[in-house]
Amino acid sequence: MATEKTFYIETFGCQMNAHDSEKVIGTLQQQGYRQVESEEEANLILYNTCSIRDKAEQKVFHRLNDYKALYKQGKRFGVLGCVAQQEGEKIFERAPFVSLVSGSASYRKLPEMLVRLESGETRITGLDDRQTEETFETDFTARLNPYRSYITIIEGCDKFCAYCVVPYTRGKERSRGSASVLEEARRIADMGYTEIQLLGQNVNSYRDPEGNRSFAELLAAVGQVPGIRRVRFTTSHPRDFTRDIVEAIDAVPTLCDHIHLPVQSGSAKVLKQMAREYTPEWYLERISWIKAARRQISLSTDIIVGFPGETPDDFIQTMNLLAEVEYDCVFAFKYSPRPNTPALTMIDSIPEIEKSARLQALLDRQREIQRVNYAKHLGKTLEVMVEGVNPARGQIAGRSSQNKPVNFTSSHGIAPAPGSYQNVRITATHPNSLVGEAV
Ligand code: SAH
Ligand code: SF4
Ligand code: F3S
Repeated sequence: MATEKTFYIETFGCQMNAHDSEKVIGTLQQQGYRQVESEEEANLILYNTCSIRDKAEQKVFHRLNDYKALYKQGKRFGVLGCVAQQEGEKIFERAPFVSLVSGSASYRKLPEMLVRLESGETRITGLDDRQTEETFETDFTARLNPYRSYITIIEGCDKFCAYCVVPYTRGKERSRGSASVLEEARRIADMGYTEIQLLGQNVNSYRDPEGNRSFAELLAAVGQVPGIRRVRFTTSHPRDFTRDIVEAIDAVPTLCDHIHLPVQSGSAKVLKQMAREYTPEWYLERISWIKAARRQISLSTDIIVGFPGETPDDFIQTMNLLAEVEYDCVFAFKYSPRPNTPALTMIDSIPEIEKSARLQALLDRQREIQRVNYAKHLGKTLEVMVEGVNPARGQIAGRSSQNKPVNFTSSHGIAPAPGSYQNVRITATHPNSLVGEAV
């Protein structure tokens, strides 16, 4: 009799990857596999990788090397995700004990790849790249987060920003039909979830293949699914950001009052070199629509500092943009050269120490902006969705609709369940979180 089929999976990278892993896990379970908690317990070991920055591929090879002795015990290794797509068959050369290499654009073939793996094949690839038109839809998605459910509505990216690997690792942009998205939203609500996060590398570039709904209309329709109390969506791209998204948020209270709109730089010259295809003015016009909404909508962004050719003056323009927009959260990164990208041929002449100094200056400035923004909540009552309890500090952690972390205490004695809602009066504020007590 064959031994029991068990797998271990570890996930790196963005929420798309986290949700892909939920789909992969569901598919494996459907094929009779059982998930285990460590490499040692598993007979199939999977890494769902990310290659967005910082020599990510090296980290994957280190990780594989740490565990390669397990191959002799008959365990099999698979590399999934963005490093898999990027490095392709080279992975077999550097790590010959790996049997499966598949990028996300080929996961729909996973059942077939698993059968080949079980029959003893050792060099199985799913590297469809940009040819694919299909999305990875499955009826078996494992939903592992107890309070938040994800739906991928669009996969891939056709934007080709000069610094970015994603168009090469996740394939061509392709959207899922709106009827199927809504059906899944209803199914999720029936399971008891109240929060849905719509996902896409550029979620608002969504184009309904059935031609029925715009992104804003889909957003509104998901927000009206009975039982759903919070709808989030990430990541929005400024190029495709239309006014009707703001109108939908104003009209449908379940749509969260938070928009993540990555700007990358405040300099028109740098944006041009990044091939972002907008100017700071164009971006700020979208911000003005958001700020003119009836609901106060929280803003967050991504910034890259030290892009090739970024002068001190370009950097100051980014700092000025931060001060103008007054974001509630900023994810800032030092530029990191990535394989295959056009920016690789640009001269990356800014010394590492200068990139670090700019990053630090930006984070310090942003901290002060957030200190002021967060302080505005003092004394107010917010609805918080509970995410977890920190028994050591007797504190309950959750998030406001604006996505701000709220840590609070409750005099009710029993800890509320993850996914439940609590009104919390804010008694103290920090630059990154709010503190309060349940009312
Ligand atoms: N599709 C989204 C972003 C996806 S990648 C958008 O276009 O806005 C997430 C973030 O990683 C990017 O917003 C960018 O800030 C950062 N990033 C991507 N490539 C990078 C690189 N080569 N070096 C540093 N940061 C990078
Ligand atoms: Fe990368 Fe640009 Fe596509 Fe965003 S839009 S995923 S930054 S190429
Ligand atoms: Fe990383 Fe791929 Fe996501 S590179 S950030 S896992 S799209």
